[in-house]
Amino acid sequence: MAKGPAYLTCLAALLGLSCVAHGYEIKAVTKPVIMSESPYWDDITNTVIFVDVIGKLVLRYDPAHPGDLKNISFSNQPGKVTPAVPVRGSDDILVGVGRCVFLVDVDWGAPGKAAVVRSVRNLKEVEPDLPGNRFNDGKADSRGRLWIGTMDDSQTSRRRRRGVNKGELFRFDLKRDIEGRSASSHVDTKTVVEEGLQIPNGMAWTPDDKTYYLADSATKAVYSFDFDADQGVVSNKKTAFSFAAHDVPGAPDGMTLDKDGNLWIACVHGGRVIKVDPRSGALLQTIVMNVTNPSAAEWGGRDRDVLYVTSARYKMDARQLEREPLAGSMFAITGLGTKGLTNVPYAVNAVGAASTNNRYGITPKTTPSKN
Ligand SMILES: *[C@@H]1O[C@H](CO)[C@@H](O)[C@H](O)[C@H]1NC(C)=O
Ligand SMILES: *[C@@H]1O[C@H](CO)[C@@H](O)[C@H](O)[C@H]1NC(C)=O
Repeated sequence: MAKGPAYLTCLAALLGLSCVAHGYEIKAVTKPVIMSESPYWDDITNTVIFVDVIGKLVLRYDPAHPGDLKNISFSNQPGKVTPAVPVRGSDDILVGVGRCVFLVDVDWGAPGKAAVVRSVRNLKEVEPDLPGNRFNDGKADSRGRLWIGTMDDSQTSRRRRRGVNKGELFRFDLKRDIEGRSASSHVDTKTVVEEGLQIPNGMAWTPDDKTYYLADSATKAVYSFDFDADQGVVSNKKTAFSFAAHDVPGAPDGMTLDKDGNLWIACVHGGRVIKVDPRSGALLQTIVMNVTNPSAAEWGGRDRDVLYVTSARYKMDARQLEREPLAGSMFAITGLGTKGLTNVPYAVNAVGAASTNNRYGITPKTTPSKN
């Protein structure tokens, strides 16, 4: 998979999980799960929330207690689990389960204690006419709205390639949807932002909030859109980076922007994370990973200078797993010389202003804000 002196340097690190090359260090920070995905740095608790899509878990990694990986399970649900986005100022997490968005109140508990789910509410189901679809990646924008894509999970990838474009991109305003009408399990506003997508994935907004990026893993391209933050709409879709044009192996999966406006894209099936300038379309850097299926990247750490990269071992055979025992782990890459944005609230808006006037049974939590 990798050639050259960097790889030899890495081979020297046979004992540990780390790999030092070009000044950066890659380290597996969690044990493997089936398909770790959708890492989300929560800057209030200083933890990474991520999911195991196939194992149907939401997990929490706390760098201050690295051995204490916690999870809550949705194994009793029919749908796969992704993404998981924290709700600002509360212990709630929005979790995509199949075609539903759940509001989950979690007590992660003290180190060493199992996490406890206090309540689960199904807030919204989308696309009842497309039972083969499920949610894929999602993130909050600067105004605290959830942007979340769907993909057709019933087709083989070959049929997908033949052009079954059933994926859609939704914008979900939790505050309006819950406070504006009764929070029954089916909130009736369906906001389709973009249709005709195949596997909408990794999304990001520029530091000036004027541009939105979205990857489509099936077309192997990253698209840019003009972003209107006030209205919450995207327009003027253009190709910002094409894997084919740069001979990048694999497909774009989850991605994140750094403070300089460059994208860090996990290349699933391509064994690497690439740094791309989406304004010029230039490929700036390639980080070769020790696993074939990196699935998403996210800046975290108190200074947002650690790149967390999730990965998958789904559908790998015994021989591959022997070669890649760390497949499915989440990795931390340090020493990359840049960082993510720190001044954007990366969480959906809190709901329920006061517990005394809480029609929806959602108990607001008082979590001290860092800012
Ligand atoms: C990849 O991981 C395996 C198993 O942990 C290890 O033996 C090998 O040295 C690693 N290779 C690199 C390039 O880090
Ligand atoms: C999830 O948490 C339960 C309860 O603490 C634990 O038994 C199980 O091993 C955990 N699973 C993973 C994948 O960490």
